[in-house]
Amino acid sequence: MSDDSAQQELSALLHEARRFEPPADLAAQANAQPSLYQKANADPVAFWEGAARRLTWAEPWSKALEWELPYSRWFVGGKLNVAVNCVDRHVDAGLGDRVAFYWEGEPGDTRTITYADLKADVCRAANALVELGVQTGTKVAIYMPMIPETVVAMLACARLGAPHTVVFGGFSADALKGRILDCDARYVITADGGYRRGAPSALKPAVDEALEGCPDVAKVLVVRRTGQDVGWTAGRDVWWHDVVGRQPAEHAAESFDAENPLYIMYTSGTTAKPKGILHTSGGYLTHVSATHHYIFDIKPEKDIFWTAADIGWVTGHSYIVYGPLANATTSLMYEGTPDTPKRDRWWDMIERYKVTILYTAPTTIRTFMKWGEDLPAGHDLSSLRLLGSVGEPINPEAWMWYRTHIGGDRCPIVDTWWQTETGGILITPLPGITATKPGAGMTPFPGISADVVRQDGSSVGNDEGGYLVIREPWPGMLRGIWGDDERYRSTYWSRFDGMYFAGDGAKRDEDGDIWLLGRVDDVMNVSGHRISTTEVEHAIVGHPSVAEAAVVGANDPTTGQAIVAFVTIKSSVEDADEGGELVTDLRNHVAKEIGPIAKPRQILLTPELPKTRSGKIMRRLLRDVAEQRELGDVTTLLDPTVVTAIRDRLSTGVGVEEE
Ligand code: WTA
Repeated sequence: MSDDSAQQELSALLHEARRFEPPADLAAQANAQPSLYQKANADPVAFWEGAARRLTWAEPWSKALEWELPYSRWFVGGKLNVAVNCVDRHVDAGLGDRVAFYWEGEPGDTRTITYADLKADVCRAANALVELGVQTGTKVAIYMPMIPETVVAMLACARLGAPHTVVFGGFSADALKGRILDCDARYVITADGGYRRGAPSALKPAVDEALEGCPDVAKVLVVRRTGQDVGWTAGRDVWWHDVVGRQPAEHAAESFDAENPLYIMYTSGTTAKPKGILHTSGGYLTHVSATHHYIFDIKPEKDIFWTAADIGWVTGHSYIVYGPLANATTSLMYEGTPDTPKRDRWWDMIERYKVTILYTAPTTIRTFMKWGEDLPAGHDLSSLRLLGSVGEPINPEAWMWYRTHIGGDRCPIVDTWWQTETGGILITPLPGITATKPGAGMTPFPGISADVVRQDGSSVGNDEGGYLVIREPWPGMLRGIWGDDERYRSTYWSRFDGMYFAGDGAKRDEDGDIWLLGRVDDVMNVSGHRISTTEVEHAIVGHPSVAEAAVVGANDPTTGQAIVAFVTIKSSVEDADEGGELVTDLRNHVAKEIGPIAKPRQILLTPELPKTRSGKIMRRLLRDVAEQRELGDVTTLLDPTVVTAIRDRLSTGVGVEEE
């Protein structure tokens, strides 16, 4: 978000006077009672040790925390198996018949998977992976639709101590290839495809294309989901049902060190190359299970919990798979899009499954707002008791709409701030304690030392904005960027001495509560997905007709931010472009390089980009243009007329394509 628009939004936020107290019955029964804050403040590490004791350890830790900035090690010497904690121990405790997942495919097919079923499935999959040669430490890439086998594949890897990297199914073959190569994955688990928008959407062809450039991948395990035709490489490709289906449903799990890698999740930073964020086992599972328990107030014997996110993002890892399963929760999992077959699909499912807790993203809520409140009003949503939001700042209108039309004015909303890097939630209201304010992230979770600081690292006062930092290590924090120690230090630990810098702007209001204000770096947040401006620029400049490109994130009423690209084409091709074909071509090119989520909303072809005298592209001005604001300071520009020319061109619509 640009400074100007942040300022405008801020002044509106500061006048937010509405408060929503927790419902009395929820407060009385809540997992998190006010003493939790006092306990955690008094001794944060002891608080996290208490949270770790909620898990089952094969060997206790000897030291809770070793902190050598910027690397932390939690529960040192402790041993556990993450999959056993998520599955086996619940079956051993007599909960084998409890449903782990009610799963619904987009076409309407359903599966009910108990903890006993899940245990058998994970054991079979683990045995199959061993047969195929996977060992502790072998990296496995997972490129899947939202089907139960995706969870099973992740847990089977965890069971073997084989780190997984799940690549979102909407990413392109190139993006998949880059991730496989970066973390040296030797196995890929995929499916023929999945259902989206009423039709099968293929995944296997992207794997085949990606693997042309990945000679070290030994095997591809393919789940049959849609039954569509797939290309087949003999000796490399194997069907999941063939090899997993014939395995025994028992597998003796080994215990691993608390710091054994669990997964690598790629996320965009400020350069073109995604960062492989490394998470380990004991601290991560402690963090996600504790936050899930307290923030969502989970009562596993009766709640039906639904994180409506894709498993390919960190939200799916932490709050579909690891957190909920560690807490023996019953979850709903849905394969497809919210408008298939009709736009009330979610409300229909909430009614049918009697979902009690819904966790989703502001962009989705704003889409539902556009579709109208009649759709949720046509369903019985009275089972809901708690709502959550994640992924981007939620504007007070969307927050109020969510509360009124989905939550029936009775459900508390937890707006949860966190990142791929943080592993789990760090800033949030607690549903039985906090009087919430529409749009505010409110308070650091107990045991988390989040702060808002000025340029010089000093804490801001109330009613003052600054940068969001975390002052002390926490158990779910990343353990580095895969293979790039230097980037880890420079990205997160160099801006403020001794503090983790999240890359977000924030503000303390007059009561000292925290408001999140979006990214302060060159990372865009489009529908809750992080995409770097540089990554998109890189893709565009890779097109043979392009000379130069500048990409900015412009405010967008539905997606939060939208990608706007300013592109200079090579003079040799300038005359040849008829009727905006190039613009279409460029958008498709970006989809191919990164994935359809990174397609620019608008591409403006311009003869020149605004630059400073030292040749730096003035993205700030381009953002002003993209958001149709008064232009900021242009005095440092080499040629101030360039930017006005671009603005005029944009306002006449020349070279613009919008969806
Ligand atoms: C943004 C998603 C405001 C933020 C879990 C952060 C939020 C980035 C919120 C991380 C929120 C996430 N309010 N902003 N409740 N939640 N963000 O890694 O800019 O995909 O840095 O993790 O999303 O996105 P990521």
